Amino acid sequence: LILILVGPPGSGKGTQSSMIKDEYCLCHLATGDMLRAAKATLGVKEKEVMDKGGFVSDDCVIGIIEEAMKKPSCKKGFILDGFPRSVVQAEKLNEILARQGTKIDEVLNFVIDDAILEERITGRWTHPSSGRIYHTKYAPPKVHGVDDITGEPLIQRDDDTAIVLKSRLEAYHKQTEPVIDYYAKKGVVANIHADKLPKDVSAEVKKVLSL
Ligand code: AP5
Ligand code: ZN
Repeated sequence: LILILVGPPGSGKGTQSSMIKDEYCLCHLATGDMLRAAKATLGVKEKEVMDKGGFVSDDCVIGIIEEAMKKPSCKKGFILDGFPRSVVQAEKLNEILARQGTKIDEVLNFVIDDAILEERITGRWTHPSSGRIYHTKYAPPKVHGVDDITGEPLIQRDDDTAIVLKSRLEAYHKQTEPVIDYYAKKGVVANIHADKLPKDVSAEVKKVLSL
């Protein structure tokens, strides 16, 4: 099973990925998480772009994702979270998958109003090494600022400010929305109402995937 999760910043791609990966035994490939983990080795330009809410170069991200897809744990299938983010990336992905004799099974399009996203983004806390995601109001940790499992400190992402969110949304509408049309023409897009409670979004995702 190969899935793509598309949606604006804060729409719940990471949150739902963790449910889907456990339920369907898939590998979770999130380019944003990978780029943040590799931040120390990225070029100055790439780091600056991320902090300002723009997109890093296609070459950089395609290299990272192509490498990650080779992991043995990805043999059963994977969830692409945050990739492809442009039509160029989607075309490149097609080429890579065609070479492997596979293709995309489903694109889950997380539909949500922009107005809801600022509260989601500014209230998010993450545990970087595990990727666990919390929210001060909607998914609070047992102890404020501390990961439930490891007891390690949680952090707020550098790009999780109201100002940077504006640029991220602009990039999303301009460059990523055409990706949805690209896959709609192939008949593989399912819209998910992402403005409900996390458990209700999960139920909708499961329903779509079991059809
Ligand atoms: P990335 O990390 O992919 O960021 P993003 O797309 O902006 O998405 P987010 O991670 O912010 O949101 P999410 O949808 O995962 O929401 P989450 O589940 O965490 O990319 C970061 C940057 O990396 C990009 O800006 C770019 O610079 C670069 N990059 C990455 N990929 C690239 C690519 N392919 N090409 C070029 N550059 C690339 O939820 C958000 C919050 O809401 C959490 O606190 C959560 O607890 C809460 N929440 C989740 N669901 C619900 C719900 N249903 N109800 C209430 N609260 C909820
Ligand atoms: Zn995410």
